[in-house]
Amino acid sequence: MATAKKVNIRISPKQRFETFAYMFMRMSGLVLLFLAVGHVLIQLILNDVHNLTLQFVADQWNSWGWRAYDILLLFFAVTHGYNGLRNILEDYIHNEWLMNVLYYVLSVFVIATVLWSAFAIATFPTA
Ligand code: HEM
Repeated sequence: MATAKKVNIRISPKQRFETFAYMFMRMSGLVLLFLAVGHVLIQLILNDVHNLTLQFVADQWNSWGWRAYDILLLFFAVTHGYNGLRNILEDYIHNEWLMNVLYYVLSVFVIATVLWSAFAIATFPTA
């Protein structure tokens, strides 16, 4: 009787991260399909681009639901964009030192942008 041959495949932490990043790109794309398209539809089409004032946004932010919506949109757009940019840079830059520097700078930028903007949305004074 033939026995199944055991194959040992080692997955490095880098490969595991890249698999996660690949899945994240598709999942965040799906989430953005609703959040980003909904955002354009609501703010610019249903409301009308000429009526998009600070007062309109302030009125929306009277509701915690809209604040949560905007924070989620911010989070997924910035992290999806960051990961996409990382993919593109990896295709063109083959210098490991330079890639590490860019990773570091971009990561600090992404973390600072998400935290700082989410804080601004969450603490915006209500009318
Ligand atoms: C409706 C909203 C969106 C959907 C459905 C979507 C979907 C996707 C998907 C599925 C990928 C992976 C493509 C691949 O690896 O073959 C991707 C890549 C990418 N996305 Fe988005 N995305 C959306 C919005 C955005 C936004 C708002 C940004 C910028 C902030 C962005 C920037 C990128 C970049 C830079 C890539 C990498 C392109 C590449 O690897 O050549 N996307 N997107």
